[in-house]
Amino acid sequence: SDKPYDLVVIGAGPGGYVCAIRAAQLGMKVACVDMRKTLGGTCLNIGCIPSKALLHSSHLFAQARHEAADHGIKITGTVRPDLPAMMARKDKVVQANVDGIAYLFKKHKIDWISGMGRIDAPNEVGVALHDGGDMTLIADHIVLATGSEPAPLPGVDIDGRMIVDSAGALALPKVPKRLTVIGAGVIGLELGSVWSRLGAQVTVIEYLDHILPHMDAEVRKQSQRILKKQGLEFRLSTKVTAAKKTTKGVNLTVQPAAGGDSEHVVSDVVLVAIGRVPHSLGLGLDKNGIERTERGFIKVNERYETTAKGIYAIGDVIGGQMLAHKAEEEGVAVAEMLAGQAGHVNYDAIPSVVYTWPEIAAVGKTEEQLKANGVDYKSGSFPFTANGRARANDDVDGFVKILADARSDRVLGCHIVGASAGDLIQEIVVGMEFGASAEDIFRASHAHPQLGEAIKEAALAVHGRPLHL
Ligand code: FAD
Ligand code: NAI
Repeated sequence: SDKPYDLVVIGAGPGGYVCAIRAAQLGMKVACVDMRKTLGGTCLNIGCIPSKALLHSSHLFAQARHEAADHGIKITGTVRPDLPAMMARKDKVVQANVDGIAYLFKKHKIDWISGMGRIDAPNEVGVALHDGGDMTLIADHIVLATGSEPAPLPGVDIDGRMIVDSAGALALPKVPKRLTVIGAGVIGLELGSVWSRLGAQVTVIEYLDHILPHMDAEVRKQSQRILKKQGLEFRLSTKVTAAKKTTKGVNLTVQPAAGGDSEHVVSDVVLVAIGRVPHSLGLGLDKNGIERTERGFIKVNERYETTAKGIYAIGDVIGGQMLAHKAEEEGVAVAEMLAGQAGHVNYDAIPSVVYTWPEIAAVGKTEEQLKANGVDYKSGSFPFTANGRARANDDVDGFVKILADARSDRVLGCHIVGASAGDLIQEIVVGMEFGASAEDIFRASHAHPQLGEAIKEAALAVHGRPLHL
């Protein structure tokens, strides 16, 4: 194009594509470069969306297999997964979602440039085009939204077949008999659940002495107990020191994290899920004076400006919570700042959800954080066993816990293990944005019979007076 762009975004994941759309809405001329053949980044192509498609399908399968009879539903013959059909459905879901972003780009007149982008000069983005050739885009502003990729585990190299990362685990050709997951984080528990439900014997190896490191301790404990009941085996405080591929499968050498005797764990497939690292290779960062942190994240200030003028960065590549909606909020904020508006992200009220069943959801501070910060707080909890709808649905695992400031009653955090916890938490997110107190939450009418009544009851419990406990 001859006329320079107001904004060129490198990376079309939730951070980049949302930034592009918001900037276009604000009247800017925008291009978005991505090296994938489709838009949507990690999240839509190999992350959030395909994982949720498989989680839902495998959940339906587990219900048909284990719960139908309890509901008086008789299934004659065996219930078994048709993996190719399940995968084909997942692929269709992904395709519809990525096509949706292409439609939105068209609608907002955003130029989609397909290729590998790099910064050639402060106002120049070079692109090695997918279809061959190279082009230069002139831009007043550049946003880097290049995301992240799986962290490698030395000695346990991904081969995409027997040793896989999350992308591989979303596309296994058959249900492994034995699956070993390294890392009891979000990916390990979600994809471990998928394959366990479909019939794999799943062992999760975790270096720390607990699962889900960033979650509230009570949530971690209950979740582990529930997942164990579902058949996931946990080996905590354990490290993997070597992997050997044999005809019988992958032989992992494991050892207590603190040292000691080695043992072997043999499985058909190993999933490495030990975290994600920023993706910034080949972008021309050093050449352009764009600094990184020790851990490789692009350094930004509170306006998402990198150390190079006119160049911004958002999403996974700047670190913090590596979540799609966090990247989206940052994308919107940068676009609005470029248009002269305020642009703001409230990092105290970003929910995080683990899509196991029951789901695990959190927003704000954990009890451990409040204690460490010396905050005087009150806690109120309510179990789903005491919620009528949860009983009607036979989804009684879990609880809601609300943490509020002891003096002001302001809600500081909420932690939920339970059916649809990810949907339920949103009420508290909105409440926290408005500075709600626990009393504000329980004075609001909650429809009956709903799982959300457990939130009202937990807020009442903060005041020591739940009605149904
Ligand atoms: P990305 O989505 O990673 O997008 C970056 C894009 O930039 C990619 O398409 C990449 O190919 C492209 N790119 C990189 N470098 C270049 C270059 N030089 N030139 C051109 N293009 C480039 N988050 C949630 O909130 N909820 C979930 O349920 C959830 N589930 C997940 C499940 C899995 C299995 C995984 C792996 C992640 C999940 N996440 C989830 C995390 C979520 O995917 C990320 O936080 C999110 O995608 C980050 O968005 P982003 O825009 O920063 O980067
Ligand atoms: P994670 O950070 O959630 O968990 C990694 C786990 O591996 C931790 O418990 C860590 O202690 C452990 N670990 C690290 N090194 C180890 C080693 N050598 N041996 C054994 N255990 C080790 O990372 P994960 O699960 O890979 O996911 C990456 C990110 O993707 C998440 O942090 C999250 O931001 C995002 N994501 C979000 C989802 C959601 O929102 N539902 C779903 C999936 C991913």
